Amino acid sequence: MKKHLLKMDDLSKEEILDILNLADQLKYEFKHAIPHEHLKGKSLGMIFEKSSTRTRVSFEAGMYQLGGNALFLSSRDLQIGRGEPIKDTARVISRFLQGIMIRTFSQEEVETLAKYSSIPIINGLTDSEHPCQVLADLMTIREYKNTLEGLNVAYIGDGNNMANSLIVGCLKTGMNFSLASPKEYMPDENYLLRGKELSKLECTKFTITHSPSEAIKNADVVITDVWASMGHETEAKNRIKAFKDYQVNSELMDLAKPNAIVLHCLPAHREEEITEEVLEAHASEIFDESENRMHAQKAVLVKLMKN
Ligand code: CP
Ligand code: NVA
Repeated sequence: MKKHLLKMDDLSKEEILDILNLADQLKYEFKHAIPHEHLKGKSLGMIFEKSSTRTRVSFEAGMYQLGGNALFLSSRDLQIGRGEPIKDTARVISRFLQGIMIRTFSQEEVETLAKYSSIPIINGLTDSEHPCQVLADLMTIREYKNTLEGLNVAYIGDGNNMANSLIVGCLKTGMNFSLASPKEYMPDENYLLRGKELSKLECTKFTITHSPSEAIKNADVVITDVWASMGHETEAKNRIKAFKDYQVNSELMDLAKPNAIVLHCLPAHREEEITEEVLEAHASEIFDESENRMHAQKAVLVKLMKN
C-alpha cells in the first residue's frame, strides 16, 4: 500500500477490499467492546480548512479507540492561516505526530503536504476527492447487499468531489456506475476518462448521462450529494435552478429496483437534492453510512500508521 491516502486511485482493488475487511472486523470489535489498540501512543493531527461534523468526530473517536489521540487543528488558529507555507508546516508537524488528516480546498495542497511530510497523509475531503467517505459508502453497500460485484450504482447530482471518488471506487470494485449530472456540472474530464478505463479493465459498465431517469433505472444503490458544496455557497441560487430536475424523490426512486438502498454523505439539503420523504425512508442506510465513516477510517489509520 502507498504511504498516503490522497485520492481513491491511490488504492488498488485488493487494498480497498482489505480495508473493508479490516473495517468490518474493527466494527465487530467496537460493538462487542473488544479492545483493539493498534495505535497505542500514536497521534494524528487533523487540519481543517473547512467545516465538519462527521469527519472530525469519527477520526477523533476512532483514534481514541485505537489507543492513540487526535489533535484538532483549525487552519484559522494554525500559522497556515497567517501564511506559513504548507511545506514548512508539513516538515514541522511530521516531527511530532505519526499521521495527518487534512480537509481543505485544493487537491494540490494535500499533494504538497504529502511531498514534504515524513508521515502518512490522509485526505479528509478536498474540492476534488472524498476517499474516506467513499470507503464508508462501499462498506455500507456491502453490508446491505452482501457483495459489490455486479451491483448497479446510480449517482444523481453534482459532478463534485463525491462523484469523482465514487467513479473510481465503484468501478474499481466491480460495480456498474451510472452518473447523471447537468451539462455544466459534470465531473472533471480526467475522472470521466479514468472511469472509462476502469470499466474496461473491470468489465463493468460506466454510463454518463444528463438524464436522472436513465441513470437510476434498475439501480441497486442510489447516491446523491448537495448541489452546492463547501466553497460554492455563493453559486447556490443558480445551482438550484440548474439542478431542479436532479432531485432524488419518490417518483424517481420508483425507477430503481424495489429494494434499492439510498446513500447520502450528509449534510443533506432536504427538498433540494433529496426529499425529506426519501431521506427518512432510507434513514437506516444513510446513518449506517455515517457510522461506517469511523470504522472505515480506523482501518485506514491502522493500515497507514501501525508500523
Ligand atoms: N460527510 C462528511 O464528510 O461530513 P462532514 O462534513 O460533517 O465531515
Ligand atoms: N460535496 C460536499 C460533501 C460534504 C461532506 C462538499 O464538498 O461540501
